[in-house]
Amino acid sequence: MGFDYFPCLGTKMLQLRTCECVFVLSYCYLVLLTVAQVSSPSEVNALLAVKNSLIDPMKHLSNWNKGDPCAFNWTGVSCSDSAGTDGYLHVQALQLMNMNLSGSLAPELGQLSQLKILDFMWNELTGSIPREIGSLSSLKLLLLNGNKLSGSLPDELGYLTKLNRLQVDQNNISGPLPKSFANMSSVRHLHLNNNSISGQIPPELYKLSTLFHLLLDNNNLSGYLPPELSKLPEMQIIQLDNNNFNGSGIPATYGNLSRLAKLSLRNCSLHGAIPDLSSVPNLYYLDLSENNLSGSIPSKLSDSMRTIDLSENHLNGSIPGSFSNLPFLQRLSLENNLLSGSVPTDIWQNMTSTKSARLTIDLRNNSLSSISGALNPPDNVTLRLGGNPICESANTANITQFCGSEDGGDRKAERSRKSMMACPVQACPTDNFFEYVPASPLPCFCASPLKVGYRLKSPSFSYFDPYVLPFELYVTSSLDLNPYQLAIDSYFWEEGPHKIFI
Ligand SMILES: *[C@@H]1O[C@H](CO)[C@@H](O)[C@H](O)[C@H]1NC(C)=O
Ligand SMILES: *[C@@H]1O[C@H](CO)[C@@H](O)[C@H](O)[C@H]1NC(C)=O
Ligand SMILES: *[C@@H]1O[C@H](CO)[C@@H](O)[C@H](O)[C@H]1NC(C)=O
Ligand SMILES: *[C@@H]1O[C@H](CO)[C@@H](O)[C@H](O)[C@H]1NC(C)=O
Ligand SMILES: *[C@@H]1O[C@H](CO)[C@@H](O)[C@H](O)[C@H]1NC(C)=O
Ligand SMILES: *[C@@H]1O[C@H](CO)[C@@H](O)[C@H](O)[C@H]1NC(C)=O
Ligand SMILES: *[C@@H]1O[C@H](CO)[C@@H](O)[C@H](O)[C@H]1NC(C)=O
Ligand SMILES: *[C@@H]1O[C@H](CO)[C@@H](O)[C@H](O)[C@H]1NC(C)=O
Ligand SMILES: *[C@@H]1O[C@H](CO)[C@@H](O)[C@H](O)[C@H]1NC(C)=O
Ligand SMILES: *[C@@H]1O[C@H](CO)[C@@H](O)[C@H](O)[C@H]1NC(C)=O
Ligand SMILES: *[C@@H]1O[C@H](CO)[C@@H](O)[C@H](O)[C@H]1NC(C)=O
Ligand SMILES: *[C@@H]1O[C@H](CO)[C@@H](O)[C@H](O)[C@H]1NC(C)=O
Repeated sequence: MGFDYFPCLGTKMLQLRTCECVFVLSYCYLVLLTVAQVSSPSEVNALLAVKNSLIDPMKHLSNWNKGDPCAFNWTGVSCSDSAGTDGYLHVQALQLMNMNLSGSLAPELGQLSQLKILDFMWNELTGSIPREIGSLSSLKLLLLNGNKLSGSLPDELGYLTKLNRLQVDQNNISGPLPKSFANMSSVRHLHLNNNSISGQIPPELYKLSTLFHLLLDNNNLSGYLPPELSKLPEMQIIQLDNNNFNGSGIPATYGNLSRLAKLSLRNCSLHGAIPDLSSVPNLYYLDLSENNLSGSIPSKLSDSMRTIDLSENHLNGSIPGSFSNLPFLQRLSLENNLLSGSVPTDIWQNMTSTKSARLTIDLRNNSLSSISGALNPPDNVTLRLGGNPICESANTANITQFCGSEDGGDRKAERSRKSMMACPVQACPTDNFFEYVPASPLPCFCASPLKVGYRLKSPSFSYFDPYVLPFELYVTSSLDLNPYQLAIDSYFWEEGPHKIFI
């Protein structure tokens, strides 16, 4: 049978049954193959150039000189499983998130021709985004958020037709949003918020038929809101807060965005009327505050509404009766407008019965002059009426208690877990940070937790409490865990808009 030719087989091997021989044979074969396969030499050089332009104080990349990147497991480098037509293994992912790296991104990144994931998020990178990245035709994820990158967005990124997600938020990018991005024909997420991107939003972006989330808040955009964006069939989140579209209105066509869940246009210098959004079936979140909007509040919004913030505009007319029929509403902010008529007390009477549900209604500084119904909201409803005529003429304690003008702490969405278990204090092993599993079916079961921080970039709720359980079920079912294996330790709002940490 020729077994003797394999150095890894001893003489005893001759007595093995056939199936075991096959196993031994294929094992030897595999070892030989792995040693024979190496990374593409041009990619090795590109990686060394990438390392050279980085500053790596914690020495995370110290193994980027030993042997071959694909065979020797360089930190953050993942390769194809088998050789390509050129006989080499290729780098498919570069994942160097949160490693205190500074320095800049080398143009040689463009030579990693089969790269699918490029992830440098949460470092201290400076310099600009190399245009050469636009030649990575297989790239699916380009994740550069949370650095100090400057310069403008290269037009060449528009060539990335396989790109699913572009995250460049929280950098110092300036210059325009390139028209060429209209060619990113697979993109679902454009996260470009918190930079200094300026100029007009290109109307051409309506071609992005796969786009889900457009986050451009906290930039320096100007011009008008393109009505064409209403043609985006999958669009779920439009977030443009803190830009200056001086004189632009909100296009009426946005009422045709049938998948829209969140529209946030706070402080955008917008004029004109609020469009009819009544046929957006799953709108959860509407923030049009701090603009110059006028006219009346649209008479109907989706039953899914969690948050309505139309404060600090010039809206007149009365509060729509349909707002008394929003079963999941958590926040209604209409303060600092010109609203008149009565305060509808049935807004909170129609809520769904969730134990942890809460509702904040802020109607301060309007022209509301009467109450319809009995003014006795339950404890989980916060009502503010200060600065309305109804407070000036108020003579009963029923009304004056809601007339303070102070800002209450209604944004409190914080929690820390308090264990209710009657387990012996510190009876878990202290090495490896063991602790009790709060929801374990076995009482006082110790385990060493894997701690994960989860940052929601664009939540639609104002209070998280009612969503703790659905969120736990979502995470555990997605990860194939039992619900007791996940415990939400704490959650809080992070400084700045639209963020919650869990
Ligand atoms: C590869 O590196 C990781 C950490 O960077 C380490 O956990 C793993 O054991 C290494 N694998 C091999 C085969 O060296
Ligand atoms: C980053 O640097 C900080 C202090 O400068 C240090 O505490 C932290 O552990 C570093 N993180 C990593 C991943 O190297
Ligand atoms: C952002 O870039 C501008 C120049 O474009 C520079 O003046 C500023 O210091 C940078 N800010 C940060 C935080 O790096
Ligand atoms: C999109 O790509 C095509 C070629 O594929 C090019 O002709 C066109 O100018 C690009 N569009 C934009 C808006 O850059
Ligand atoms: C914002 O854009 C204007 C031009 O539209 C420019 O003059 C200004 O310097 C930019 N501001 C920032 C902070 O980038
Ligand atoms: C409103 O947006 C402008 C930019 O248009 C910004 O300078 C200003 O700080 C924003 N105001 C608030 C309260 O965020
Ligand atoms: C908007 O533009 C008008 C003139 O068209 C100007 O008077 C006003 O100051 C601008 N407002 C803002 C917030 O830029
Ligand atoms: C909404 O779309 C329909 C057809 O899809 C169109 O007839 C209508 O004009 C659109 N409405 C607006 C306001 O664009
Ligand atoms: C909710 O309120 C509306 C109008 O106030 C009323 O017609 C309806 O019956 C209420 N629904 C429930 C479930 O209480
Ligand atoms: C207040 O809590 C009760 C039950 O605790 C619930 O039925 C009701 O829907 C809640 N109200 C609001 C406005 O969330
Ligand atoms: C005042 O409150 C009491 C209960 O606290 C309620 O019975 C009464 O109807 C209220 N009066 C008005 C005018 O809302
Ligand atoms: C984004 O920019 C705004 C306005 O400058 C700021 O309030 C907010 O904290 C920033 N967000 C992040 C995540 O840096």
